Amino acid sequence: MTSKSDTHYGIDFSQLTPHECYKVLIGSIVPRPIAWITTIDNSGRVNAAPFSFFNALSADPPLVGFGIQRKADGVEKDTLRNIQETGVFTINIVNNSLVEAMSICAIAFPEQDSELVAAGLSSENGILVPSPRILDAPVSLECNKTMIIPTGPKGEIVLGEVVFAHIHQDLCDPEKLHIDQQLLDAVGRMGGQGYSLTREYFDLSVKSVDEWAASQDSGERIWSK
Ligand SMILES: Cc1cc2nc3c(=O)[nH]c(=O)nc-3n(C[C@H](O)[C@H](O)[C@H](O)COP(=O)(O)O)c2cc1C
Repeated sequence: MTSKSDTHYGIDFSQLTPHECYKVLIGSIVPRPIAWITTIDNSGRVNAAPFSFFNALSADPPLVGFGIQRKADGVEKDTLRNIQETGVFTINIVNNSLVEAMSICAIAFPEQDSELVAAGLSSENGILVPSPRILDAPVSLECNKTMIIPTGPKGEIVLGEVVFAHIHQDLCDPEKLHIDQQLLDAVGRMGGQGYSLTREYFDLSVKSVDEWAASQDSGERIWSK
């Protein structure tokens, strides 16, 4: 059911097909961070695939989560199967120079083919988990699976705890741990086949009540770029 106010369409999700729900979600919740996830199976074979139904969910404990859909025939994707088998995964952050390689890793290659080889990338075993990290990634986060939550017959949500981070030395002072956002140059996922760059960003601190009141009196704009 679609209704209309003066300014907005009202869309009742119970009347939409799953694909229509997907279109509204991915077009509205943007930009989404991309978890480029590397895993291994029980025999040590490496798998890599991107997931943008993803975010950091908690800092204490440091939890991340991502949603993984089943394939059209209901079979699990390799990433989920590997996490079920090994209990670990590694999230690699995608920057602008890696975005095409990341996209190659979303191709539905046969199980025995390595996405990383196809994308021309190298990996190295993790420090605290056996799943590997992508060497060219600016940041890689080693994770232990916390839980896998079934969301119905079509998919699962995976929660994991970050136990180790690899951060390129150009990006951060190891004492301060501020990651240079400009140099990180992370890419986000938009609606459709779209992506966004993060180079144009701005700082906006949350003011105290007093600072806010003073800015109202002086007519100062809270946000100015
Ligand atoms: C940028 C991007 C984001 C994606 N996000 C998701 C996602 O959140 N969930 C999902 O199930 N598939 C997502 N996909 C599709 C998977 O990457 C794709 O199905 C992949 O082949 C799965 O690989 P696997 O079978 O090796 O795990 C995404 C693809 C791209 C290119």
